[in-house]
This record gives sequence, C-alpha cells and structure tokens, in this order.
Amino acid sequence: MFFEILGDAAEKITTECLVVGVEAEGKLSPTAAKLDEVTQGAIKGLINSGDFSGAAGDQHLLRNLPGLTSPRLLVVGLGKPDERKDRHYRKLVKGINQTISKLKLKSVAVALDGLASDHSDPYRQTRLLTEWTSADFYQYDTTKSKKADPLALEQYAIVLNDEEIELGESALLDGVAIANGVNAARELGNLPGNICTPTYLADKAKALAEEFDSLKVKVLDEEKMEKLGMHSLLSVGRGSAQPSKLIIIEYRGGKKDEAPHVLVGKGITFDTGGISLKPGAGMDEMKFDMCGAASVIGAIESVAEMQLPINVTAVVAAAENMPGSQATKPGDVVTTMSGQTVEILNTDAEGRLVLCDALTYVERFKPASVIDVATLTGACIIALGHHASGLLSNNESLAESLLKAGDYASDRAWPLPLWDEYQELLDSNFADMGNIGGRSAGTITAACFLSRFTKQYPWAHLDIAGTAWNSAGKEKGATGRCVSLLCQYLIDQAELVETSEAEHHHH
Ligand code: BES
Ligand code: MN
Ligand code: ZN
Repeated sequence: MFFEILGDAAEKITTECLVVGVEAEGKLSPTAAKLDEVTQGAIKGLINSGDFSGAAGDQHLLRNLPGLTSPRLLVVGLGKPDERKDRHYRKLVKGINQTISKLKLKSVAVALDGLASDHSDPYRQTRLLTEWTSADFYQYDTTKSKKADPLALEQYAIVLNDEEIELGESALLDGVAIANGVNAARELGNLPGNICTPTYLADKAKALAEEFDSLKVKVLDEEKMEKLGMHSLLSVGRGSAQPSKLIIIEYRGGKKDEAPHVLVGKGITFDTGGISLKPGAGMDEMKFDMCGAASVIGAIESVAEMQLPINVTAVVAAAENMPGSQATKPGDVVTTMSGQTVEILNTDAEGRLVLCDALTYVERFKPASVIDVATLTGACIIALGHHASGLLSNNESLAESLLKAGDYASDRAWPLPLWDEYQELLDSNFADMGNIGGRSAGTITAACFLSRFTKQYPWAHLDIAGTAWNSAGKEKGATGRCVSLLCQYLIDQAELVETSEAEHHHH
C-alpha cells in the first residue's frame, strides 16, 4: 500500500472513494461543505433525510454524485467536539478501513479536515491515521498454508489543506516508518516458539543490518557470554536445547562520540516457567514473551528508516525458558555479570534474570538513557489492565519524557513507584537478593530487582505484559505496543539535538 498527501480540491481527486467527515447534528466540515456545494446538496440532502446525523461511528456511502470525479463518497460521523479523543479517532479510522476492506477498494482519499482528533495538530492526526491504517491492514499468514488474499488497496491518500501539506508529508514519512516497525514487531511476536527461537531473532537482526547501512549487528553466543560472566542470563536457557543469544544492534545517525540511547528487550522466545512450571491453560501465549525484544527491534528499524540524527543501540536478551534436565532449580544461586549474586527462588521469574546481565552489559556504551521493554509480570495486568504499559524509572525527567511521548504517540504508559521501601522484599538468606519479592507489588519488586543493575545511567523500565498482545478471538495476536512510544521518545531526543545544534551555530 502506498500513502500520499494531497492538497485541497477534493472534488477533483481521482480515486475510487472519497471519505469526508460530518460533525454531530449534521454540521459540515469545510471539505464536506465544499463537496456538498459541487454535488448540488447531496450531503445536506442525506442529513435532511434522517439517514445520517454525523454521530460518531456513523457511515453512509453515496454513489455517482454529480460534480465529483470519484464514483463513491463515504460520509463519516465525527461526532461531538468532546468525542475527539484518541479512542474515538481510533474507532473512526478502523470503521473507515473496514468499509474500504469490504468494498475491496483499490484507492481512497480521506479528508478529515483536522477535526477528527482533539489535537489540532495536523502532523499528529496524519501520523496516527497512517500508523493505524497500516496496522489495520496487517495480516498474519506466515504459518498458514492458505495465504491471505493480497491487499486490494494500493493507494491511500490523505487530503489536507494547502498550509498543512508540509507537516503532513513529514507525518506520513514518520508514520509509515513507525508502522513498519510496529508491524515487524507484531510479526515477530506472532511467530510460534518453534520458529522464533533466540537464533531466529539473531538472524532477523542480521537481516535488518543487511537492509540498512546505518545498522550494525553483533551477536554474542553462550561461550562469549560465559566469558563475560553473564551467568544469570545463561541460567535461564540451561533447560533448553536452544542456545541463548545476546543481540546488539547499533544505529549511528548522530555524531561519533555522542552517547547513545539504549533500548533493551526481553526476548524469552517461550516461557514455560521452567522447573517452576506454569499451568497448562493458555500457555501458548507465552510465545509472546519476546514481545519486548520485538519492540526494540521494530523501534530501531523505524529509527533507521526515519534516519534520526542520534545514536541508538538495541540489545536483545534472548533465551528459551524450559524445564530440561540441565534446567536451573529453585534455590540455585547464580552470579550475575555485575558480581551480585541471586537466589533463583522461582524459575518463572526469568525475565529479570536475562535483563539484569544485559543491563550490566550496556554500561560499556556510556548511554544517555537506557529503556528496557519486557513482558515482565502478570501483576502488571492486574495493576493496569490492557491499556497502559507500566513505567518505572530511576530518573524523573526520563520518566516524564516517556509519559509525554506515550501520550503523543497514543501508546500510553503509566507510572508505578520505585521506592526503596519495596527493595527489602528481595532480601535472601543465601545470596545478595532473591529473584522474587512475594505476592504483593509484583511489578514494582521486579523493577526493584532491575534497578540494582542500572545505577550507572538514567534508566526506565516498561512492563508490557498487559499491552503486548490481545488474547481473545479474531483479535488474538501481538500488538507492537511500545514501538510508537519509543519512536516518539527518540524523535523528541533528535529534536533536542537539532535545537541545541542550531543554537550552537547561532552563538
Ligand atoms: N512472562 C511472564 C509474565 C507474564 C505472565 C506476562 C502472563 C504476561 C502474561 C514472566 O516471566 C513471569 O512468569 N512472571 C511471574 C513472576 C512471578 C513468578 C514472581 C508472574 O508474573 O507470575
Ligand atoms: Mn516467567
Ligand atoms: Zn516470562
């Protein structure tokens, strides 16, 4: 599918279907008013007939109107002014895309006149439209023998006012790049555990580096990790026939000596729980336990596509958590790369065990910031449900930036406290710490554990256990959550660099 921005004169656009918005109680948007005029009152006529009111979610398809080049005009309801939140806009976009799909259209041109979302920001509205539309047309068929029908839709035009075109063009480029990262993350997430192994993730990273000159990949195998003392990470894959991997992807778009922003992803390609075996029901969903890894891989792909003028490094800690004969047992003590020892009281709390060594490893990059993304705790689903990712951080301004980025990207996170009072829940009689903190505050104690390995840099942790995938029915599958948030954070960092450079030149 090809996205493009078109200027004014909607009536003259050659397309199979024009889409235009009408507000609640039949109030016409500027483009709707213009189209009503050239069609000799077709839209007002529709409203007067009572068949369409402009209520949020309403749709009506008109055909073969006089004065229009397009054979179809889809009129969509934008609702009342207080119905312009992201959740309304998301539904509106989905509704339009469902109709486009049903009609098997080859081309559409969508004119929403900056009224569809509550931010009067044409960049944001256009970018979200691009991201969401691209997501709506993603189909998983990789492991089906019958492939999905190829997408009929070839051309998706977004109609903007002339003065919005420039912003719209950059929104479209960013939106397509982010959407590609999101869909790449979803695809990795959806692949089954017997295909998407740690080795597969490493190969995927290498393929990405083939595609983008700006990306370099290094993969550490078990022997190398052994030498580095990553015994905690290695303990997780001990019960598996699949070798663990540490995957490092470097994007260099900034100055050579500029500190990178580091993204760390939990890449448990299947989480059985290990010897602390999980119950059987729904265990298939633990193939999604590498969605943090998928997010950071997707995000760095988007960054490369956007060619941001900063340095970014993505690190994936990949292992399969299985209860094989060599598996780690409850009570085993391992020494982490940092030198701190851990009593593994529950082998199902494995995410933190792979992440802690990756977090120590990234100290060598002298990072500007480190953000880890992980399907870390079931407790996060209890705390926040499926809308917000959990956010915990040792740095207030980093946390603030991520919250803001998530809001703007419509990929929201919500903070939980990381107070020292919680730390003692990790006390162990047999090691420096245990790997679990008991029943209470599971998301916080998991982050407390990680915080003991992140003292050298500003760090934030995103728990995506509740957001990384949908569990039910036709919607079951990976969401790509946090790719947009991470991209927005990095776009913001790139803008900071550009502003400070501009000032520098000025002085
Ligand atoms: N991958 C799971 C967390 C998870 C569970 C994410 C369900 C999404 C849905 C993680 O490795 C895990 O098993 N965590 C345990 C930790 C506990 C043993 C302290 C959990 O949340 O139950
Ligand atoms: Mn687990
Ligand atoms: Zn897990």
